[in-house]
Amino acid sequence: MASITTFDTVLFSTLEADKVIENSRTWCATNGWTDHQEIVGLLMSWQSMETIALEFKESSSVVLTEQGIDAVANGSLEYRMFQSIPVEGIQVKEANERHGATAFGAAKSKGWIVVDKGLVKKKDGVVEDTTKNQLLALATLDAKDILALRKAKLVEDRKVSYCRIAQGAKFNIRKKECSDLTAEMLKSGSWSSETFKFNINALGEQPWSGYRHPLSKVKAEFKQIFLDMGFEEMPTGNFVENSFWNFDALFQPQQHPARDAHDTFFLKDPATSHDFTDDYLAKVKKVHAEGDYGSLGWRYDWKLEEAEKNILRTHTTAVSSRMLYKLAQTGFKPKKYFSIDRVFRNESLDATHLAEFHQVEGVIADVNISLSHLIGMFTEFFKRLGITNISFKPAYNPYTEPSMEIFGVHPKLGRVELGNSGLFRPEMLRPMGLPENVTVAAWGLSLERPTMIKYGLDSIRQIFGNDLNISSIESNPICMFPPVRE
Ligand code: PHE
Repeated sequence: MASITTFDTVLFSTLEADKVIENSRTWCATNGWTDHQEIVGLLMSWQSMETIALEFKESSSVVLTEQGIDAVANGSLEYRMFQSIPVEGIQVKEANERHGATAFGAAKSKGWIVVDKGLVKKKDGVVEDTTKNQLLALATLDAKDILALRKAKLVEDRKVSYCRIAQGAKFNIRKKECSDLTAEMLKSGSWSSETFKFNINALGEQPWSGYRHPLSKVKAEFKQIFLDMGFEEMPTGNFVENSFWNFDALFQPQQHPARDAHDTFFLKDPATSHDFTDDYLAKVKKVHAEGDYGSLGWRYDWKLEEAEKNILRTHTTAVSSRMLYKLAQTGFKPKKYFSIDRVFRNESLDATHLAEFHQVEGVIADVNISLSHLIGMFTEFFKRLGITNISFKPAYNPYTEPSMEIFGVHPKLGRVELGNSGLFRPEMLRPMGLPENVTVAAWGLSLERPTMIKYGLDSIRQIFGNDLNISSIESNPICMFPPVRE
């Protein structure tokens, strides 16, 4: 068989010159290709690209039967019967038995043998095996001769399929099929005008891998927004915190209801810890008990035992207080910090509350920054989440003044509460040792709420806990907050 490239060249040049190839079999024979079936396979792949058009046809032709083949090889039966008769002749009965009555009849009617008084004798002279000669030259015979050969079962009709080959609709734009889909083709888009040896529409196999939890996807998105805006991540690994860093350092009085066992989880073992300097402790104690830096303080009997109690941190602002203290100790520089991690509250559980959840927190510490800086920062931060038109409502936090709840317009849900914010009070910042002209703005929001909104879930238990649908983790889309265009 000719190589495929030769085949293509012959095919296209023939079709270019003659427009059609009437009979694929004769065309194959002319080119010396013996396997017609294989050629039809090649033709069909070009047809699938509409390079050529095929029409399947059938013709019937006269071919030798097994008997016919035998006659060509060994002579016709009447000839063999004639040859076998000895000069002295044989009995009619025996002559009939040797090659059959038909052969006997044929030899007789051709005048090759004569029957004389029950004895069969050969005619004198050389005879010609006309049947064999006819079988060798079937194409030259007329219908009458063919009919006689067909009756004698020496030939038969056989149906033969073949194709008529014509130029297809895309004959002039035919291309070599590509065996590779390359990165360059994808980049330039040239793949769309190529034809491929393989099916580019086949669906790829689903990669078997781990999947990111929706919370972790939203967390990664938040993290990217903070990083893009120049924030540094705070270390949030310590779920266990003492009350000092979680409450006292934040100027949250020891009688505050949030510090009650109804709201906070206290640790039994170890029940206490003490990781703050005496100097800082004294300043915190003073500002709570007596007031300082121009503040009257809360005015109560501040107790060290209360501050030493270990708890599961109730907010990530505990981490912020540690970081701001450290910043004051190492020499103040303007900083932007963020954290996203777990916090714990002794809540009664319902569709929107769990005893543990995640907080997203941002902190900006700079010289003489004001509320308008904070509003500018919020506007940019939430714009990157796809939320515009933010507004504020006055609120209360023991550690911020002013304090503001933040609201924004969500494209689907309308006006929604986003989080809580404010400027940390001097009673919190000054004991740490931060310079007087330093202002620290901060805000916090839950990670679960935007995740529920993003993935259309109406219960927090569907992201955290038993109601989580594991297969949804495989199938839910990647998280990308829409960029807002002005
Ligand atoms: N810590 C507050 C909360 O738990 C959020 C907050 C952070 C408020 C920073 C003001 C400043 O809800």
